[in-house]
Amino acid sequence: MSEHVLSRRDGAVRWLVFNKPGKHNALSLDMNEAALKVIEAFAAAPDERVLVVTGAGGKAFVSGADISEFEDRRSDAEKADEYSRVTQRMFFALRDVEKPTIAMIQGYCLGGGVALATCCDIRIGAVESVYGVPAARLGIGYSADFIKLLADLVGPSRAKEFLYTARRYSSQEAYEIGLLNRVIPTAELESYIAEYAAGIAANAPLTQRATKIVVSELLAGGDGKRGREAVAVCANSEDFRDARRAFMEKRKPVFNGR
Ligand code: COA
Repeated sequence: MSEHVLSRRDGAVRWLVFNKPGKHNALSLDMNEAALKVIEAFAAAPDERVLVVTGAGGKAFVSGADISEFEDRRSDAEKADEYSRVTQRMFFALRDVEKPTIAMIQGYCLGGGVALATCCDIRIGAVESVYGVPAARLGIGYSADFIKLLADLVGPSRAKEFLYTARRYSSQEAYEIGLLNRVIPTAELESYIAEYAAGIAANAPLTQRATKIVVSELLAGGDGKRGREAVAVCANSEDFRDARRAFMEKRKPVFNGR
């Protein structure tokens, strides 16, 4: 585990923390790789139900990719492709993990920080958080995968405005355009998220998995086969059987994800 990527568990909630506050948690390639390991371990752990992704230090979620690596690793189209190939493994693992994920955002959320946040299912930001994609100040082109994630949330025109202007959006603006699910006073953010994530973790994981697969298939315009299978898994599950009996017996159901 890299000292710049921390991971801890709180009940059924896994926390993934980018920890390079001196650089506003700018994402280096080794941080990408360490984060990928945390996400893969979370995906494989049946008793871990929700992932919260955040940045350490209170000043930044993630301030983008680590620009100091660009000279060596991203200086022409061939290198840029290889760089994207390495970083996308982590981003796609986060986007595709079949469990709920939440970005807890304080301070700067820029460039790759926005990409990371859009790979999460839900984004909750502190009042003082700030958003932007400064690619047009650096001459970087963003690929279809990232633009789609952003455009699916804010719409194509606002996604273009976000990238054309490269300007910073306040948390209120980010909320208004649909980038954030909610905005919370900074001092309450962590306790709010802990409770919010625990609430999601107590619900039926197979329902959440089916929802995530169905939404992603709807947005991708596929044939919906995996979604139908995931919904059928719910219908045949022990969780559904126990929950309907629990309702009749006026007790709380316990969900095991089976
Ligand atoms: N990559 C590499 N280093 C970064 C970084 C990034 N994305 N973001 C911040 N840092 C470094 C700074 O170079 C600085 O390093 P130094 O102390 O060795 O000089 C340190 O983090 C602190 O940043 P600083 O710029 O002094 O802080 P600030 O509070 O004045 O500004 C930001 C904060 C985030 C607005 C500013 O650092 C910034 O614009 N960063 C780049 C954001 C960006 O373009 N991201 C997209 C990358 S694709």
